[in-house]
Amino acid sequence: MAVSTTKVVVISIFLILGMVLAGVLMQPEASLDAWNIKESDFPANDSREEKLAFLLNYAVLAPSSHNSQPWKFNVSNESILVFADRSRGLQVADADQRELYISMGCALENLIVAADHFGYNSSVAYFPGEKDLVAKVVLQPAANPFNPSRDTRLFSAILARQTNRNPYEPRAISEADLETMKSLSSDANVSIFITRDSAIRKGFQDLVVQANGIQYSDANFKSELGHWLGQGVMGPTGVQAKMAQLAVVFLDVGPEQSKKDALLINSTPYLGFISTAKNDSISSLKVGRVLERFWLAATALGVSLHPMSQALETAQTKANLTELLPAESGMMQVQQAFRLGYAKPGGAHSTRRPLQEVLIT
Ligand SMILES: Cc1cc2nc3c(=O)[nH]c(=O)nc-3n(C[C@H](O)[C@H](O)[C@H](O)COP(=O)(O)O)c2cc1C
Repeated sequence: MAVSTTKVVVISIFLILGMVLAGVLMQPEASLDAWNIKESDFPANDSREEKLAFLLNYAVLAPSSHNSQPWKFNVSNESILVFADRSRGLQVADADQRELYISMGCALENLIVAADHFGYNSSVAYFPGEKDLVAKVVLQPAANPFNPSRDTRLFSAILARQTNRNPYEPRAISEADLETMKSLSSDANVSIFITRDSAIRKGFQDLVVQANGIQYSDANFKSELGHWLGQGVMGPTGVQAKMAQLAVVFLDVGPEQSKKDALLINSTPYLGFISTAKNDSISSLKVGRVLERFWLAATALGVSLHPMSQALETAQTKANLTELLPAESGMMQVQQAFRLGYAKPGGAHSTRRPLQEVLIT
């Protein structure tokens, strides 16, 4: 017996509504609670281990690609082990795990900034052995833990930092402020290039549009992006998140995204690029640390930042991006690109997983 078109449409609508409802009901417990952390909550009278665990409240506020939060931590009396949670890596958009390590570097930097603030000296060993162990941070109480003249700007910016995807104003950032951002984040192994060059802006815009074209015609990319959107960790939550997932997976949203990205880049006064000599995981971790320090310094100065990774996520556009940047910029292996400038506040913070979920005992 033939089934009428109306029946097919009605059944499809019910199926889609069912998927949306199931998705909402099965939503993981990510929330905004993590942003309520207060300095006065520091457990000054508790064990050393509890004090170190407290610092992780700041580590988890770090940015990460697709807000994937691909980290796990193990705390002991004198150190914190930082592990990669590879199950949360982006297999399609970030096949070589560059962004996973940059994200982990951001969390590592927040941890170290917080440790310094609460009176600990830290030393970091990268990849000290065990599989997936990305860093061991040894923390010792400083001789003069609460030096009143210490610089609290970066620490205070941890709670204020966010990705700002609004259009940026054309107004210039003072040379002194740009210099402060660079000097507060300087690392001998990592280069930052900030430019206002219009030819580079146009070239970068074209590469982002080209990368979007490649990615949005790949069903696996759309399905991965849809998965993270649907978790409600990248802006819209609940039903809206599920609708965003369905739109990315089933509709052709690539051209619209490219139009939006092109407008954003075109209106942005500054673009930033971070590079290293090598393209290995330690370099990406260090890039993450520098990116986060630069971002915290920018936040402290009222300047917004928006990472844009598309052009680095497809082989062709990545190669062209390196060619686009002038030799004197020192950009060898470009690892991260971002927009920089003044803008209206970016809106609500993005959600975070509860701390218990990322602690390994
Ligand atoms: C390595 C890395 C790459 C990122 N790439 C992009 C990107 O291409 N586009 C974008 O809009 N946001 C990007 N972000 C920002 C994340 O989506 C953002 O950090 C995350 O959703 C958490 O939100 P928050 O930064 O406001 O706390 C990136 C962040 C990191 C650390």
